[in-house]
Amino acid sequence: MYLQRLQLFHFKNHSERSLEFCDGINTLTGANGVGKTNILDAVHYLANAKSYFNGIDSQIIEHDKPFFTVKGQFEGDVPTEILIQFEGGKKTIKKNDKVYPRLLDHIGMIQTVFITPYDIDLVLGNSEDRRKFMDLSLCQIDKAYLQNLSTYKKALEQRNALLKSMQGRFIDPDLLASFDAKLIPTGLLIHEKRKAFVDKLLSHFVDIYRNLSQGIENPTIRYESPLNEGEFETLLRDSYRLDMSAQRTSVGIHKDDLVFGLGDFPLKKYGSQGQIKSFIIALKLAQYNYFQSVTKNHPILLLDDIFEKIDEQRAQRLIDMVGVSGYGQILITDTHASRVETHFQPIDANKLHHHL
Ligand SMILES: Nc1ncnc2c1ncn2[C@@H]1O[C@H](COP(=O)(O)OP(=O)(O)OP(=O)(O)O)[C@@H](O)[C@H]1O
Ligand SMILES: [Mg+2]
Repeated sequence: MYLQRLQLFHFKNHSERSLEFCDGINTLTGANGVGKTNILDAVHYLANAKSYFNGIDSQIIEHDKPFFTVKGQFEGDVPTEILIQFEGGKKTIKKNDKVYPRLLDHIGMIQTVFITPYDIDLVLGNSEDRRKFMDLSLCQIDKAYLQNLSTYKKALEQRNALLKSMQGRFIDPDLLASFDAKLIPTGLLIHEKRKAFVDKLLSHFVDIYRNLSQGIENPTIRYESPLNEGEFETLLRDSYRLDMSAQRTSVGIHKDDLVFGLGDFPLKKYGSQGQIKSFIIALKLAQYNYFQSVTKNHPILLLDDIFEKIDEQRAQRLIDMVGVSGYGQILITDTHASRVETHFQPIDANKLHHHL
């Protein structure tokens, strides 16, 4: 299945825009600020019912307009039209003109892998960025994960609201335990799935990184979680006192992190710019392979300003990788039309070019 046509109304700076895509390599070029990244984000929105960059839907609406719409026509065994509209604080998703009862019924139909310069936060930002990476990877293929994550987040919010409202005073342990009863089963499931995800991701990641960087260093990814350290229920109970005085929940999967390394050293501190960029691209291509191994379908690969990020040789190795080894539909943005042209010229695939 591939995206054959994308139509936008009042989506960020795109007042009205219709674009056709082929099932191979699609390039979008144009000057800074014309809205290239926004188009990739619209495709991400179609698949995930949210923006990759901005979780506040009202800010996605074009300034001073009342709504936005993203519409996608997908070609495949069964042609499918997806329409997402946001208006008056409400999001509606339609598949072939029929409204989905719940947003989450839609997630998982299409997978997207987004590589953008903003991903530098995955390495240099805080742990929340890395949890988001795990969550986005798992939510796109596993509805139970998505449901559990949403239950966990709600229970955590309520527990934290209680702790805060008591301003450090004593809280009946039975009351806290009633919140824990929701955190424990959902937290355990999320923990198991994140662990399994990282194991699978690693099996793809190391080879891709080595291929891309032609380096000899040994890249590592370690999943860190308080739940690796003991039984979740006990960990929660043992921190009641601490939670009361800190006025928030101190253990749980909301404290998980991924630790990236090269050899024995943390990437964040010791990685060169090029090493960090290669690491991120390899991570995303590993995510691609992971999706593909689970769904047996090609995700849509969104490459934002990829040539700004890496040197010529690395760029060519990336193109060689995505061009030959079984990647499906690719959307790629660049400010320079000639640069993408040169890079993709030798690749034998369907190609379509839009200059915005
Ligand atoms: N809600 C909105 N309403 C109107 N414009 C918006 C909205 N949100 C973002 N924009 C604008 O969209 C413009 C295009 O952004 P985008 O990042 O897609 O450009 P780009 O073509 O990728 O540029 P670059 O080459 O610099 O990466 C920006 O100027 C931004 O201010
Ligand atoms: Mg951009």
